[in-house]
Amino acid sequence: MDKFIVRGGNKLFGKVKIQSAKNSILPLIAGSVIASGKTVIKNTPKIRDVVIMCEIIRFLGGKAEFLGDDLHLDTSLVNSWSLPSNLTSEIRASLFMVGALICRFGYASIKRPGGCRIGERPIDIHVDALKTLGVKVDEGEEIVFSGKIINSGVINLRFPSVGATENAMMTALRGKGVSTIKNCAKEPEIEDLQKYLNMLGANIKGAGTSVITVEGLSKNNSGEIVFTPYPDRIELGTYLFALGAVGGEIEIHAETFKNSQSVINFFKDNACKIHIINDKIYNISISDTLRSFGKVCTGPYPAFPTDLHPQLVACALNANGITAVEENVFESRFAYANELKKFGAKIGVYGKLCLVEKSVLRGANVVAGDLRGGASLLIGALSADGQSEIKNAVHVDRGYYKIEEKFSALGAYVKRVSY
Ligand code: EPZ
Repeated sequence: MDKFIVRGGNKLFGKVKIQSAKNSILPLIAGSVIASGKTVIKNTPKIRDVVIMCEIIRFLGGKAEFLGDDLHLDTSLVNSWSLPSNLTSEIRASLFMVGALICRFGYASIKRPGGCRIGERPIDIHVDALKTLGVKVDEGEEIVFSGKIINSGVINLRFPSVGATENAMMTALRGKGVSTIKNCAKEPEIEDLQKYLNMLGANIKGAGTSVITVEGLSKNNSGEIVFTPYPDRIELGTYLFALGAVGGEIEIHAETFKNSQSVINFFKDNACKIHIINDKIYNISISDTLRSFGKVCTGPYPAFPTDLHPQLVACALNANGITAVEENVFESRFAYANELKKFGAKIGVYGKLCLVEKSVLRGANVVAGDLRGGASLLIGALSADGQSEIKNAVHVDRGYYKIEEKFSALGAYVKRVSY
């Protein structure tokens, strides 16, 4: 087991290289099963969720290996559609393999997928969408999906679920006609999946809007596909909120900002200065103490992302005034707040609303309970006076690769210790 040792108070200065988006890479790995050939995903961080998805690909008979920063997949020899419960129980993204396996084999089976404990995380929207396409779903301890014949049709998602949108896109590729998915998630990571599947030979349109059309995939393009996902907008936001918490000036490649306007605007209205050095480099500095962020409501893209709300709360502990965060996507994502209180944080959680006051933070020993909650504790520790310990680094490692090295390179004191 690893923990982080953090000594707070250092400002952040230097360059940050943002990894490719975790929430693009995971569905792309699933989609590579449809390719049934070679795929290279560029700038792929060796984060725990990616490592587990690669183990699933190998379990099914495929190949997955890192060559430098790139992930090389070969799914030509994938010969099974039954997902291994010891791996699927670890990560939610294993659920995205279902659509890809149905597309390729007409079948898929999975035990309950795992994932961050931020809510009940049912799969009813996935099941309803696939049933609309004619998939038979037997929900026992093992959930078996049978879809040899896919009826192209119109799917209405009751909520713009990211994963359900992705599973519906991949399942619909097995159909003969055109399927329409309505009330889709509009996250940029869905656009990445559409772009990748179209490189395979699909004809999918509308990703990034609330209506996606999917034409049945008759024949895969041959040859190796090389794909560069969007930069990780949640990793970017994590560093911005850390900068907001402790101050300093960081340099980030402009490309990274493409899908982060809602977060950037957030800062622009505050004590943050963004110096555009050229069309490639942005300097972001926090010139003064942040003012309160006011009321922030999370929601499906392009609203403020739920995956950045814990990091915002940690940053807001250093802002003048009161910040209110309303979490509208997951029903229990505030567990980290009790850990932040151990630093002396003045936080009140009332149902889906969290009120945050400027606080004097002192080092403490805390425990990470999920990925983004763990990132929040890191930001809290960076702005606390004295030394802190954050146990269960494994949660943070699911989405951030060697985060202690990235923060240390910016001048923070963050060490990884085994215990
Ligand atoms: C994806 O999870 C992301 N994970 C999550 O990121 C992200 O928070 C979430 O989308 C929302 O943006 C990956 O892409 C691997 P949903 P997903 O289906 O697809 C409910 C991170 O920190 N729901 O959009 O599982 C669900 O309970 C992770 O990187 C149902 O009720 O999210 C939630 O309340 C955390 N039934 C809401 O919808 C369903 O069948 C949104 O879930 C599916 C979802």
